[in-house]
Amino acid sequence: MCGIVGGIATRDLTPVLLEGLRRLEYRGYDSAGIAALDAAGAVNRARSTGKVAELEQRLARQPLTGQLGIAHTRWATHGKASEQNAHPHCSDRLAIVHNGIIENHHPLRLQLQELGYVFTSETDTEVVAHLLAHHYGRQQNMLSALRCTLAELRGAFALGIIHQDEPDTLYCARMGSPLVIGVGSGEHYIGSDPLALLQVTDRFIYLDEGEHARLTRDDCQIWSKQNQPVQHAVQQYQHAALSMEKGEYQHFMLKEIFEQPAAIADTLDGLLADDHVLTAALGPGAESQLPLIRNIHIVACGTSYHAGMVARYWIEEQTGLPCQVEVASEYRYRQVCVPEGTLLIAISQSGETADTLAALRYAREQQYLGTLAICNVPGSSLVREADWRLLTHAGPEIGVASTKAFTTQLTALLWLTTALAQVRERAPEIIAANVRALRSLPARISDTLELAPAIAELAKQFQAKHHALFLGRGPHYPIAMEGALKLKEISYIHAEAYAAGELKHGPLALVDDDMPVVSVAPSDSLLEKLKSNLQEVRARGGQLINFACERAALDDGEGITHIAMPWVYETVSPILYTIPLQLLSYHVALIKGTDVDKPRNLAKSVTVE
Ligand code: G6P
Repeated sequence: MCGIVGGIATRDLTPVLLEGLRRLEYRGYDSAGIAALDAAGAVNRARSTGKVAELEQRLARQPLTGQLGIAHTRWATHGKASEQNAHPHCSDRLAIVHNGIIENHHPLRLQLQELGYVFTSETDTEVVAHLLAHHYGRQQNMLSALRCTLAELRGAFALGIIHQDEPDTLYCARMGSPLVIGVGSGEHYIGSDPLALLQVTDRFIYLDEGEHARLTRDDCQIWSKQNQPVQHAVQQYQHAALSMEKGEYQHFMLKEIFEQPAAIADTLDGLLADDHVLTAALGPGAESQLPLIRNIHIVACGTSYHAGMVARYWIEEQTGLPCQVEVASEYRYRQVCVPEGTLLIAISQSGETADTLAALRYAREQQYLGTLAICNVPGSSLVREADWRLLTHAGPEIGVASTKAFTTQLTALLWLTTALAQVRERAPEIIAANVRALRSLPARISDTLELAPAIAELAKQFQAKHHALFLGRGPHYPIAMEGALKLKEISYIHAEAYAAGELKHGPLALVDDDMPVVSVAPSDSLLEKLKSNLQEVRARGGQLINFACERAALDDGEGITHIAMPWVYETVSPILYTIPLQLLSYHVALIKGTDVDKPRNLAKSVTVE
């Protein structure tokens, strides 16, 4: 997805801006550009398709220097990947970079064309450049022009702006897309991700939604959406939090469990508006196809397969589209029937899993409407070979047992479900509720992570056990499967998951006081059914461990342990209930002394069949 870097300093910023773009490359992009104010006071610009290295080669031939500058990596949404569409975009004497999507770009473009503005790109961003120039022309004041412009924009954006008339000032604004201000000594920077700026500073101001700022070398003024001055503390960056080091954590797996709030917020970056989702984020080709989808097939392996299973419940309930989910190793070897208008979704953290890749290649020979990769690695084979892509932004996942990759896949899949519901004109209140729930997820997950000490205590009950059963119903059945898989993978305890209604059809025979039974019990429409299943376990002396909503009112008593989960909107609860199961398997493995990050016999990326 797109990336922004910018700065105002007393040194030439081109090397800093280029290094910033290199640090954002991992997000995925298809063109890059830079604009800076030279010593004579003119804005110069260089752009190129392809890699940042190609932009660098161009700058080696035609150098560009300046102490005030902005730079960008673009991932095409409005308009193909081309030099004309690459950022920065210019109008009159100003240049801007933009992340996000301007939803009302079309009417604004028509108004500006009537006023005589000529467009040189297909982007929504150029609309913002001309609108700023238009307001500046009338007011001769950049701050007022910026405010008038922001008041007219709908959608999600982060903006960086420079103007020839203000050679010592960098402007920026954010709404729905992240933007941080980097504080240096006699210099200020902006970046869509602090990682881009760690080369020059580790002190940051995090802008809130709707805020805009004016930065000079020595000063940083910030205003709210209502144009009221606001003060934010400068925060020291916690290096361990996002780097490839374990930092304060004993294992990568634990660190990655705790990174989930940030990973989910990153995955949602630029995808949500106030009460609806921004479908343009899927890219020009995909957006126009969404209304044509009549049916969905999902293929994946391992943990990614569980994400697909949860998505089936969401998709069928919220969009009415039939959805089928299959492990890729089975799908690739059978004759599939593909009804007209079917979308194939391949889910993979690595994008290199041999069976998932083979399934995608097989699907491309069938009559699918199109293929979509949901993936965490932008340059992976899966992303390159699918027609469309929806990237998760979990960051590198080192622990073999997948954690943050799974919850970001679920986040992306719920977003996709909402996008499909939106194009199919499903009830707007459901769409708005999904958006609210997605937005609140990082905070709810942070709350849930506070259960870690209680779960570490609970894990002691598993010390001498050899088997465990996991139960769930509805979309929490695949979450129970994921919980059982985690326990198997890293603690080597045999664990099975059952849809709780199946208990009587076999597994109940295994239940005795040596068999812990873990239940996933959110406060949903199936709770009463689940309660009956749990009584069946207790009646046979089974030890029950319930991860239950604080409002669920489950029976207490001997042999029953409850971990109370915060209440959440029903649709997102599968994402939330994953967290305690991850923590449980981690703490059991810790007690058993296994190699948590590299469990025996397993590989992170299975590139052979
Ligand atoms: C391996 C990993 C799992 C992962 C599965 C699918 O088995 O150990 O954690 O879920 O591959 O990987 P993918 O990269 O396609 O999601």
